[in-house]
Amino acid sequence: MAIDEYTGRAPATRDTDAVHLDAAGCALMADQTVDAQLASLTAERVHAVTAETKIKARASVARLINADPREIAILPSGSLAWFQALTSIPIRAGQTILVSSSEFFVNYIALLRYAKNRPLALQRIPDDHYGRSSSEQLTKILGSHVGLVCVTHMSNNSGSLNPIHEIAKICRTRNVPLLVDACQTVGQVPLDMKEIFCDYLVGTGRKFLRAPRGTAFLYAKKTSLTNWPTIIDYPTARLDQSLAPMTRVSDAAIYELGEQNLVALAGLKAAADSAMELDSTVIWRQINDISLLVRDCLRSLPLILHEHGPESGAIVTFHSKEIDSQEIISRLADRHIFVGSARRRSTPLDQCSNERDLVRISPHYYNTREEIMNLHEELGRILYRF
Ligand SMILES: Cc1ncc(COP(=O)(O)O)c(C=O)c1O
Repeated sequence: MAIDEYTGRAPATRDTDAVHLDAAGCALMADQTVDAQLASLTAERVHAVTAETKIKARASVARLINADPREIAILPSGSLAWFQALTSIPIRAGQTILVSSSEFFVNYIALLRYAKNRPLALQRIPDDHYGRSSSEQLTKILGSHVGLVCVTHMSNNSGSLNPIHEIAKICRTRNVPLLVDACQTVGQVPLDMKEIFCDYLVGTGRKFLRAPRGTAFLYAKKTSLTNWPTIIDYPTARLDQSLAPMTRVSDAAIYELGEQNLVALAGLKAAADSAMELDSTVIWRQINDISLLVRDCLRSLPLILHEHGPESGAIVTFHSKEIDSQEIISRLADRHIFVGSARRRSTPLDQCSNERDLVRISPHYYNTREEIMNLHEELGRILYRF
């Protein structure tokens, strides 16, 4: 299906004048995704939807990222998926965890608490001159004292992409596990697990994948499945006769919770299938074009754009010296243009976000040039106060 012919929006939003530019917060679902959930909900009125839905969702996500379905666990949030992965990685007391400066704050808080209890040391991977995690520096500091490397693929506050393929290659060569947070890239940037070859990767549904809220997944490479995560739920948990836990780790289902919102999972499956059908390289190209247009428009206005890296995606952030970011966001909302914010606290290690909260514009392929021109015009009105 050609992307232009694709019915990008759910019926509820297609006929309104609202301009949605907050895919990094939560994107609009496609018709197929809404319909799949409605069908599932309707089915639940007469009989309980079976676990088959979960199996199908795993298979669709696996297909999207070129993995084996047994390497996919479905979870209700990216943060929980990330934490489940962390707690299953064998790290020895006294070892160091290396972390990217764009790490999401929830991951970082979990790391701080986890490291304190072991104890483990945390060290930030130095940035290159673009502000991305430096592969060169990583090569220098990655020794046998390192038990884990954590990298966020796309920064939440600038759209800058970390060189994940290079980082994964370095980690693989040194035999150190790599945990990638791809919550902002799944559905936006092509992700091929046979090429990235990391140990663990986390994606969330509601952002660029256009899946329902409350859906996320964890990819755990087969060979990395050695330990239990903190939470083992009833589908995989067993006790032996002496009441000792006897769960065997044979596939990523070990990370899942027993109770899941199967209606949402039907939506996750539909969203992953749509992304697959549209082709992730086509999606990435289209998203890039629209993001370049946003950046070009913003450069012509009296704003400070936060850009780094040779490769950036559909997260464009800025602030104004004159008007507070939250005020810009609410004034745009008054004009039915919905954008998000990148709060200082969300990327605590990143220097650039330490100054103030930023306005975050995150378009998707369903946004049109006219909508971006409209944004440009309305922002101009707000900034020039007319
Ligand atoms: C980079 C990044 N990682 C993780 C998350 C958390 O995902 P979830 O809200 O599904 O827990 C977010 C959410 O904003 C994010 O931007």
